[in-house]
Amino acid sequence: MKVIVCENYEAVSKAGADIMEKVIRENPECTIGLATGSSPVGMYKELARRCSEEGLDFSKVHSVNLDEYVGLEPTHDQSYRYFMDDNLFNHINIDKANTYVAKGVGDAEANLKEFNAVLDKADIAIQVLGVGPDGHLGFNEPGEVLYDKAHKEVLDESTIDANARFFASRDDVPRYAFTMGMGNIMRARKLLMIVNGDKRDAMTKLLIEDKLDPKCPCTFMRMHRDATVILDKALADAIGYKY
Ligand code: GLP
Repeated sequence: MKVIVCENYEAVSKAGADIMEKVIRENPECTIGLATGSSPVGMYKELARRCSEEGLDFSKVHSVNLDEYVGLEPTHDQSYRYFMDDNLFNHINIDKANTYVAKGVGDAEANLKEFNAVLDKADIAIQVLGVGPDGHLGFNEPGEVLYDKAHKEVLDESTIDANARFFASRDDVPRYAFTMGMGNIMRARKLLMIVNGDKRDAMTKLLIEDKLDPKCPCTFMRMHRDATVILDKALADAIGYKY
C-alpha cells in the first residue's frame, strides 16, 4: 500500500486529482468508482478545474458510486445522487446517463438487484474512498463479518452521529443504506483513499497496526495490490506514522 503524506488538505486534494487524471488520460473510456463525504470534495473541485481549464475529458468516462442512503429521493439535498451532481457531475463534461448512483427509494430488492448488475458488469479502473471514523468503507460497517456484494446495511449509531452534521437534526439521518460490498471495492483495479477529518483510530489500525480486522473494514485495503492512501501531516504526526 502506498501512503502519501501531504502538507495540508489542498495538497491532499491535488495529489488525489493527479492520480485520477492519470487513470482517465490513460483510458478516457474507463469506469471510475466514486465516493461521497466531505473528504473528496477538494479533489472533485480540482478535477472540475482541470476539466474546464486543462482539457481533462470526462465525455466518455462512466462512473459508479459506492453507496446511497435508503429512503432519500435523488432530489433530496443529502442524497448521494444530489451530492455527486452538485460536487462533481454538474461541473465536468460527463454524460449523466453514464453515471450510476444506486436508487434509494422504491422497491429495495429491485434497487439492490440493479446495483449488483451494474457492479457485475463494471470494470472499475479506480475506486475513490473516504473512511468513516470507525473505519467504515462506503457503508460497510464494522462487524463480525464483511459482505462481498452490494447489500443493505443498518448504519451504526456512530455513523449516524458522524453524518448528522449534514442534516437538520440527528433524527433526519437515514438508518439504512445500500453500499457496494467489500468484494466490489477490492475488485477495483486501483484504490484511492482520501483521508480528512479526525480519523485517528481508523488510520492507526490501517497504517500502524498489522491486523485485517472486520471491526475496522478499511484495514482490508492492505490486501489490495494497488492501493494509495493520502493524508495530511497533522494526522500522520498525530498517530505517529513515520514518513
Ligand atoms: C459516509 C460515506 C463514506 C465516507 C464517510 C466519511 O459515511 N458513506 O463513504 O467515507 O462518510 O465522510 P467524511 O469524508 O465526510 O469524513
